[in-house]
Amino acid sequence: MIEAKGVVKRFGDRTILRGVDLTVEQGETLCIIGGSGCGKSTFLKCVIGLLRPDEGRVTVDGLDIAEMNEETRIGDYRRRFGYLFQEAALFDSMTVWENVTFGLRYLTRTDPSKFRSIAKDKLALVGLKDIEDFKPAELSGGMKKRVGLARAIAAEPSYILYDEPTTGLDPIMSDVINDLILDLQKQLKVTSIVVTHDMKSAYKIASRIAMLHEGRVLESAPPEAIKRSENPYVHQFVEGLSQGPIKMKLKDYEPDAAARQGTAG
Ligand SMILES: Nc1ncnc2c1ncn2[C@@H]1O[C@H](COP(=O)(O)OP(=O)(O)O)[C@@H](O)[C@H]1O
Ligand SMILES: [Mg+2]
Repeated sequence: MIEAKGVVKRFGDRTILRGVDLTVEQGETLCIIGGSGCGKSTFLKCVIGLLRPDEGRVTVDGLDIAEMNEETRIGDYRRRFGYLFQEAALFDSMTVWENVTFGLRYLTRTDPSKFRSIAKDKLALVGLKDIEDFKPAELSGGMKKRVGLARAIAAEPSYILYDEPTTGLDPIMSDVINDLILDLQKQLKVTSIVVTHDMKSAYKIASRIAMLHEGRVLESAPPEAIKRSENPYVHQFVEGLSQGPIKMKLKDYEPDAAARQGTAG
C-alpha cells in the first residue's frame, strides 16, 4: 500500500504540492486527475523517489525512501515499481528488447543472457510480437507506449505508476491501452496510480479517482461519485467546461506540452 501524508514540494519559490494526502490500497487503481501543470507528474516522482518531498512523507509497504541508503533504495524500494513515463521515454539508440530490459540491469541480478527472451514475454503481454530488434524510430506512438509498458512490467513490480498513458493516442489506441492496464491489474495483481486528464480512460480503469488542484487533493472517490460530484471544481474539470471556478492561467501552461497534446488540460 502507498501512503502519502502532507506531501509538500517546492521548486524555487513556487510551491507545487501543498500537502497531498493520498492512500492507495493493495490491488487498487487510483487515477489522479487535474489540469496541466498542477503537479501530477511531480507527485509520481515523489512516490518513486526521483524527487524528495520538502515536507511530509511517502511510505510504500511501510518503507520510507527518505530513510534509506542508496543500496536499499534500489534493492528494496525502486524494484517494487514499474514506471510508464509521460513520453514513453525510450532510448532511441537501443533496440526494443534492450529498452524493455533496461531496468533489469540495475534493479535485479537477472542473468543478461535471458534478457532477450524476457523482453519477448513482456512484449507478448502487451500484444507486441517480432519487434524485439526494432529501434524506437520505427514504431508508431501506440507501439512506443506499449513498449514503455513492457519495460514498466519487466522487473515484475507490485506497483505501476502510469504518467498519462493515453495522451497523444487516437481514441481506439487509447482504449487498447485502457484494456491493457485493466488486464495487467487482473493478471499481475498490481496496484497502480494512473495520472491522466482523459476522463473516459479514468472512468473505465479507476477504482478511485482523486482530483488534484492547487497542490491539494480536492476530492477522492469512486468514478460514479466523481461523475456526480457537487464540488464545483471537480464538476468543471470532469465535464470539461470553460466556465467555472477554475480559471485558465495561461502562464501556467507549458507551451510544449499544450502543443503536443493539442489541448491545454
Ligand atoms: N524539476 C523541476 N524544476 C522546476 N520546476 C518544475 C520541475 N518539475 C516540474 N516543475 C514545475 O512544476 C509544475 C508542475 O509540473 P508537473 O508535475 O509536471 O505537472 P503536471 O504533470 O500536472 O502537468 C509545473 O509548473 C512545472 O513547470
Ligand atoms: Mg505531467
